[in-house]
Amino acid sequence: MQVQLARTIKLLRESVTALKSDGGTLALVPTMGALHEGHLALVARAKEEADHVAASIFVNPAQFGEGEDFDAYPRTEERDRELLEAAGCDLLWAPSPSEVYPDGYATTVSVTGVSEGLCGGARPGHFDGVATVVAKLFNQVAPDVALFGEKDYQQLAVIRRMVRDLDFDIRIVGVPTVREADGLALSSRNRYLSEEERAAAVALPDAMGEAAEAIAGGADVGATLIDAKAKLFEAGFSTVDYIELRDAETLEPMAMLEGPARMLAAARIGTTRLIDNIAVLPR
Ligand code: PAF
Repeated sequence: MQVQLARTIKLLRESVTALKSDGGTLALVPTMGALHEGHLALVARAKEEADHVAASIFVNPAQFGEGEDFDAYPRTEERDRELLEAAGCDLLWAPSPSEVYPDGYATTVSVTGVSEGLCGGARPGHFDGVATVVAKLFNQVAPDVALFGEKDYQQLAVIRRMVRDLDFDIRIVGVPTVREADGLALSSRNRYLSEEERAAAVALPDAMGEAAEAIAGGADVGATLIDAKAKLFEAGFSTVDYIELRDAETLEPMAMLEGPARMLAAARIGTTRLIDNIAVLPR
């Protein structure tokens, strides 16, 4: 079946009402487009979680800071639409910026706590932009369930907090990161990497995997993370925004492995900023 395209809130609402008229449930997969296997894994999971699946494509200006890649962000809507159709998505919500943020728009959703530090520290205002647009997408599409990749682990934590705090009646499902054969996490931004940078980028999951293994085996957290950072610089990364161990749920910093933890990192190779995260479980 053809994926139905909605570009206005009016058409979206009519399409959602028609889809749900059989009494079935609706899943939403929010994206910024430039789809890859990671997004398609979200759609596949969405089909298991609900009767109908909607995806959104919206490159959200509110979550990009000054000097970030908003203008350069890949826009591949025609191909994305074909991929969504082949994956069995029913509805594509692809609004224009003025449909989402009309003249006079003045409201921001801001989640404190989990949005602070990590990417929130390196990209001020980023998670306000994410929380605001996701809250709007939830109100626009009114899904029963929404799916997000664990690749953006802090984003997932921010959205879970927002859903609890604002009483959205929407179940949030986190889907494991999809990786290339060598371990690099799939990302729409990987297409910015030159051949040489792509080869070096694998140092990120490699260094994190080794550090996670060492910490799970009892190694000192601080010293291990300093080592991991040095390995990234050796491999050719120019900056490391952070590489940290955090509580897997609250994202509170962890100086010692005292329960389920997550190692999270962001580092720049060439002009491309890559992020990744992995579970670290005490043995
Ligand atoms: O993860 C993304 O692609 C975006 O941050 C999201 C959740 C679609 C909000 O713009």
